[in-house]
Amino acid sequence: MEIKKVGVLGCGLMGAGIAQISAQSNYPVVVSEINEELLNKGLKIIDKTLAKSVEKGKLAEQDKAAIQSRLKGTTNVEDFADCDLIVEAVVENMDLKKKIFADLDRICPSHAVLATNTSCLSVTEIAMATKRPDQVIGMHFFNPVPVMKLLEVVTTIVSSEETLKTVKAFGESLGKTVIVAKDTPAFIVNRVLTPLMLEAIRVLEAGLATREDIDNGMVLGCNHPMGPLTLADFVGLDTMYYITEAMYAESKDPKFAAPLLLKRMVTAGQLGRKTGKGFYDYT
Ligand SMILES: NC(=O)c1ccc[n+]([C@@H]2O[C@H](COP(=O)([O-])OP(=O)(O)OC[C@H]3O[C@@H](n4cnc5c(N)ncnc54)[C@H](O)[C@@H]3O)[C@@H](O)[C@H]2O)c1
Repeated sequence: MEIKKVGVLGCGLMGAGIAQISAQSNYPVVVSEINEELLNKGLKIIDKTLAKSVEKGKLAEQDKAAIQSRLKGTTNVEDFADCDLIVEAVVENMDLKKKIFADLDRICPSHAVLATNTSCLSVTEIAMATKRPDQVIGMHFFNPVPVMKLLEVVTTIVSSEETLKTVKAFGESLGKTVIVAKDTPAFIVNRVLTPLMLEAIRVLEAGLATREDIDNGMVLGCNHPMGPLTLADFVGLDTMYYITEAMYAESKDPKFAAPLLLKRMVTAGQLGRKTGKGFYDYT
């Protein structure tokens, strides 16, 4: 199926990026938020990112205007009625996502594909909230969306080959490299990455090495662009904790169990860069 018009539900960190790159790839886009204030905030993120590209000489001013003319902001979910693909990027909450997918199922054309950008919730469970589970799929983008080259597409035991084909082609049209994962906790990337980050926290917690030596070890010894503790601060320790808890709850695999130190830091509000303190001090 050819995607002619794209809907993006949620204009936060991820939704703004997904809406931007879709408009940049010449698709007309409808992007929604829960109220005008949040919508304007989201559209401002896009404006700022595009303005930076213009400043750097990577984008012409008239192209910026053309991209923004393809973007329509809304607070009315009914405006997705003529979209061929809708990507949901609201907060990571299963009940909210299920309600949204049931609404989208009622509003969107019968041929439309409904995708979720969830990081760790079950795509199958979200799909079953609709009457078209074969047309529901995961599209897991990475932050920041305009920069990161990867798109992890998540298939389920009920999603169709046609849906996968459509979404893969769409992802490639956005300039992304598409990898395909099955609907298992945290898919491919976070499933491989999370145990590494948790082990780094355990090494620190056990007093086996300093934070700098752990990070330098992985940067200089393995050519990682940043150390695992620096990365944890960047992702946000609350987000990390949430993801590991969800992976552990579903798999009961001890490699995903959160170290006590991580839990305590989250309780103390030491969430990484966003609060100024995590494994490192940013104040
Ligand atoms: N932040 C990341 O690095 C990252 C990476 C990959 C995937 N994800 C996933 O993407 C999703 C969104 O994450 P985020 O970081 O962009 O969160 P965010 O909090 O920045 O944005 C979510 C936005 O959704 C809006 N929203 C909530 N309910 C809505 C509704 N009914 N209609 C329209 N908008 C609504 C909120 O107002 C908010 O602005 C989550 O499922 C998350 O797990 C996040």
